[in-house]
Amino acid sequence: METIRTVKDLAQIAEAERGCGKSIGLVPTMGALHAGHKSLVDRARRENDVVIVSVFVNPTQFNNAEDLRTYPRTEESDLAMLAGCGVDYVFAPSPEEVYPEPDTRVFDLGPVAEVMEGAMRPGHFNGVAQIVSKLFAWAKPTRAYFGEKDFQQIAVIRRMTELEGFDLEIVPCAIVREADGLALSSRNVRLDEASRKIAPQIHRILADSVDLKGQGYEASEVERLTLDAINNVDGLEAEYYSIVDAATMQPLAKWADAGILGAVGCATVYCGGVRLIDNIRY
Ligand code: PAF
Repeated sequence: METIRTVKDLAQIAEAERGCGKSIGLVPTMGALHAGHKSLVDRARRENDVVIVSVFVNPTQFNNAEDLRTYPRTEESDLAMLAGCGVDYVFAPSPEEVYPEPDTRVFDLGPVAEVMEGAMRPGHFNGVAQIVSKLFAWAKPTRAYFGEKDFQQIAVIRRMTELEGFDLEIVPCAIVREADGLALSSRNVRLDEASRKIAPQIHRILADSVDLKGQGYEASEVERLTLDAINNVDGLEAEYYSIVDAATMQPLAKWADAGILGAVGCATVYCGGVRLIDNIRY
């Protein structure tokens, strides 16, 4: 496994691999890697000749300076884990290498980016679009892999990919969970012991909400009941729970209004001061 630190080297290496007719799987990450990331890397390994993983805590997607400052940075253990997964290249640049000058691009991400995380974290998705578009332009991957825990992010990246005309496949990968149901996240390490015990309730409540649909409740009712159920747990506080169309990310009042991809319920919940996100398909 080779660690690449410069954009020039990344572009040259990827170009040379493509020149030999090899497919490239790119797994963009912000490091602090866990089994969820490993599942993306394993899939990229199975489906491509060459696997590139980027490890970069992207400052432009943080709308909170404290969150950026305290985001876990664990490069040494990340590199060790990736070496054990058959990764060919790790791109781990400095912020100055990625942003030699401020990135002033504003993407027209449209309605998919206006709700939920887009509404709660102004500028966040534009920052994601900035970094992912740079990675796509430099590595020109055949496929790029993203976890479905950040369900809305995938819709936004699809939109950016269309806008910029990148020719690649976006591969969504299923959420990986702890045995007790908690979705794996780099932020989980911030949960104290008591909060760690409470946090799995989020997935339990979301899973139960699928039964409510089965019992005949409409989408708007399931949304309200689920939000109440989360807020009724001591130690959980929902920022939002929205049932949306899985393609457009627009709110759904009725199940029948969902398009071909169906409906997804997206939650952002504070647990012991840690902002956790999760989702469930209906
Ligand atoms: O999902 C993430 O970890 C980040 O948003 C991504 C896609 C690596 C861009 O920084």
